[in-house]
Amino acid sequence: MCSIIGYSGQLTLAAPLLVESLKKMEYRGYDSVGIATLNKGNILVSKGVGKVAEVDQQLHLNELPGEIGIGHTRWATHGGVTDKNAHPHYSCSANIAVVHNGIIENYQELKVELENDGHIFKSQTDSEVIAHLLELNYEKSNFNVRETMTRTFERIRGSFAFVAVFSNGTIAGARYDEPLIIGISSDALFLSSDVLGFLKHTDQAIFLDNGDIVIVENKQYTIFDNQQTIVNRPVTQVAWELGSSEKGKFAHYTIKEIHEQSETMLKPFVTSNNFELFCKYLNDASNIYITGSGTSYNSGLLGKLLLSKFAKKKSEVYMSSEFQYFSDTVEPLSVVIAISQSGETADVLHSVKRAKEKGAKILSIVNIPTSSLARMSDCYISLDCGPEIGVAATKSFLNQLMILYNIVCILSNNNIKFDSKERKKLQAMIQTVLNLDNKIKTLINSLHHDLKDIYILGRSIHYPIALEGSLKIKELAYIHAEGIAAGELKHGPLALIDKESVVIVLNPNDETYQDVVSSTNEIKSRGAFIIGISDLHNDLYDIFIELPKTDSYLYPLIEIIPLQIMSYYLAIQKQLDPDYPRNLAKSVTVK
Ligand code: G6P
Repeated sequence: MCSIIGYSGQLTLAAPLLVESLKKMEYRGYDSVGIATLNKGNILVSKGVGKVAEVDQQLHLNELPGEIGIGHTRWATHGGVTDKNAHPHYSCSANIAVVHNGIIENYQELKVELENDGHIFKSQTDSEVIAHLLELNYEKSNFNVRETMTRTFERIRGSFAFVAVFSNGTIAGARYDEPLIIGISSDALFLSSDVLGFLKHTDQAIFLDNGDIVIVENKQYTIFDNQQTIVNRPVTQVAWELGSSEKGKFAHYTIKEIHEQSETMLKPFVTSNNFELFCKYLNDASNIYITGSGTSYNSGLLGKLLLSKFAKKKSEVYMSSEFQYFSDTVEPLSVVIAISQSGETADVLHSVKRAKEKGAKILSIVNIPTSSLARMSDCYISLDCGPEIGVAATKSFLNQLMILYNIVCILSNNNIKFDSKERKKLQAMIQTVLNLDNKIKTLINSLHHDLKDIYILGRSIHYPIALEGSLKIKELAYIHAEGIAAGELKHGPLALIDKESVVIVLNPNDETYQDVVSSTNEIKSRGAFIIGISDLHNDLYDIFIELPKTDSYLYPLIEIIPLQIMSYYLAIQKQLDPDYPRNLAKSVTVK
């Protein structure tokens, strides 16, 4: 997935504004970047491999003249990471350029057709077919942009949002299953993948519906629905805070976001969130499904355990990419809890769509209230943790858990204590663990620098945290890491353990303690190096990270913090950029 932006206005020249917008949306992909501007009737394109700031420095993107333009950051799907495959893509005559987010499923068939028609392709991307199709239809429709867009839309299959600039000064966009948002200010119009692309300039936004086409010309925008009828879509005022994202005193967003958790963790409880309604839906449900991807799936795993243990509610949790294969039992009284930071993850949206078609109610736990997921939901609870820029989720994970704990507290009639007094105590404990930052940094520096494998052991409610911790290490430090249910060790993974192994044990003094100690003994006797995370010291640990004492069910919320900090310093030790891990993107909007 990628980010796209189109701009037409009088605020500034297009190029510097496009570059700024792309920097804000870079979390969506950062393999390559490019912009196209319209200058005196000519479309100029500049693009290259690298992050926005790097390419801007090399190519001086922001000096491209012109008041209208489009821009793109790429996360490669079709075709390698090369200058040629970077967007925008020109049509043959260079009177149209296009940027695209998504996948054009029938691009091969279209490419053959267009090549037979004399079109010459310069890239290996699926996206370039849009530029040539637009050109073909522009000529066929006697240079009518509306007809061009409609005919092009009708031919392409898949998930897409694209924006094109025409040499007559028009920009036009269309969306199907990928986001496209119009930003409206008195001086300018924007077409963007995310409100972050224009939020510095306006908080007035229109979220286009699936199948919509928008045409921007003569300072006006017109929207057509999939019946080709002109439609009015509501203008939404988006929260300015979504745009505030500075690193402050921190070297990276990731560590800044880790450290602000002691503050953001209480945010979902400040604003009036829909907890009671959410729980009513759950109480009325015949069966409960939980779904999410990556980190959000891991929080779903813990949610399932907490619901079962404390609220005596049965639920099933599925990775969103797998949910479709298990959806046969979804029926009208089912409820699906969809968890997602962005609310734009294609796998999650796909699962939700499928469940909705079967009549299920959709409850979501999501950070972006204007996201596709929030808008598809019968009820949502907002994470309210502010913009999360680091690609690896940290503060959004903690807030997902905070919300799940509160839901379980309500459903279980306070079988677990999670009122505001308890949450405040928890906040102080999280701060205590965050204060271990320097100690953890020293610990990481003391480990040898060529770690190949790290294992994290945990049982019961600690197992999802072991999985999340290992995901953080993989994402940030590119080290193979595995979360292992401690009891499973003897059923296979023990074969991997030797003197080179580093094993982290999540071992608070609760009902799982003794069993995890037994597993730790088995590992220790094979010579592994043990890092113990617990409120209780044990001689088996080579390094001990001490947690404050609290109610046993709260430990998952606390023990994730040292794992996040460790992952960050493992990345720093290897001189990696933790904010933008290779090959990943924050919001994965393709299936
Ligand atoms: C991507 C990110 C992960 C994230 C996952 C789900 O893969 O790299 O960090 O956990 O998407 O994202 P969501 O926005 O749905 O929570």
